[in-house]
Amino acid sequence: MATRDDCLELDRLDRLAPRRDDFVLAPGLIYLDGNSLGPLTRKTREHVLATLDEEWATGLIGSWNAAGWMAAPTRVGDRLAPLIGARAGEVVVADTLTLLLAKLILGALDLRSDRSVVLTDAANFHSDLYVAEAMARRAGRPITLRAIDRDTLNDELNEDVALVMLTHVDFRTGEMLDLAGVTERVHAAGALMLWDFAHSTGAVPLDVTAANVDFAAGCTYKYLNAGPGAPGFLYVRDTWQGVIKNPLPGWLGHARPFDFERGYEAAPGVQAFVTSSPSVIALSALEGALDAFTGVSMDDVRVKSLALTDLFIELVESRLPGAFTLLTPRDHARRGSQVALRHEGAYGIIQALIARGVIGDFRAPDVCRFGFTPLYLRYVDVYDAVTHLVEVIEGAEYLDPAYATRNPVT
Ligand SMILES: Cc1ncc(COP(=O)(O)O)c(C=O)c1O
Repeated sequence: MATRDDCLELDRLDRLAPRRDDFVLAPGLIYLDGNSLGPLTRKTREHVLATLDEEWATGLIGSWNAAGWMAAPTRVGDRLAPLIGARAGEVVVADTLTLLLAKLILGALDLRSDRSVVLTDAANFHSDLYVAEAMARRAGRPITLRAIDRDTLNDELNEDVALVMLTHVDFRTGEMLDLAGVTERVHAAGALMLWDFAHSTGAVPLDVTAANVDFAAGCTYKYLNAGPGAPGFLYVRDTWQGVIKNPLPGWLGHARPFDFERGYEAAPGVQAFVTSSPSVIALSALEGALDAFTGVSMDDVRVKSLALTDLFIELVESRLPGAFTLLTPRDHARRGSQVALRHEGAYGIIQALIARGVIGDFRAPDVCRFGFTPLYLRYVDVYDAVTHLVEVIEGAEYLDPAYATRNPVT
């Protein structure tokens, strides 16, 4: 079993270690919730302050032109693109993830007008299920949404399936699906593939180009650290651009928004998926936050992520044998960047840890969820977090009634 000194040595050798200085983290805090809301980076703060003081305050409306505000959705999209293996011109930052999924579901259904089924995962994030159900009802023709056990996908694929929508890394268990393999099987059945990258972007290497992905969307407030409620991003493979239509057209997806024409003509490229005015301050925060990934290899991030999650699993299982059920796959190829532990006292455990400065989160009904973010987490943080967990369990701290009251956000 790894000792605390072993962990300190791993930190000394870690080439991502200097990245921690980019982040604003309170001393002593162990933040294992970057899979839910990433922390503030120094560059994010600088970038937002510059947008406020040097662009908005002084340039006022002229900044739409002078500061490039209007082009921000595609400019920031181009900066984000390499993190998912996309090419310039294939990613746009706008709206939020659920809204982008809605646009892509309806748009994709029009491309397979002879087919009538959408397949998704019964264990998908609830927002994905709500929006898929609602869009199926509004497709303009009868569509059946089938929420299946994802392990049965092969059996469910047939000539009726228009679209498959899956989340690449399961929000609850952290299980990662085979991006290229699933996409290939979906294509072999003549259907289109839409991926939700909420728990993947900035967490695991992604290559949508090599995997031949049709469409994807993700959020930027988790592993990309762009701040609470930060905008989402959408990916449309270049071969679909100009073919798939934005079902919510607005003036800023028009080819000539400032001609104020009565008739709609989509802008070329992925800009067509923009509906409304860009959220400039939020885009500025994301632009600053992406600096934390400059010069970082996602392969290095992946190696450290797996080492951190392996270490956590090993320490929990050896120091607290039998206390938890591990929901996250042990197999590296099937693991994202989080570890989920089942325990009937999960809510109290997370609350007791938070009181000790170890931040994880709870997912109903009984899951303790811990995110591992290699840019700012140290091996010694993992060791210390497990020490706190041991004390919380062995001292039955989690049974304290003070930790029983459910907060609105868990
Ligand atoms: C897998 C997944 N999909 C969708 C969403 C919803 O994202 P948004 O609130 O940006 O619409 C989340 C939010 O955490 C998520 O984890």
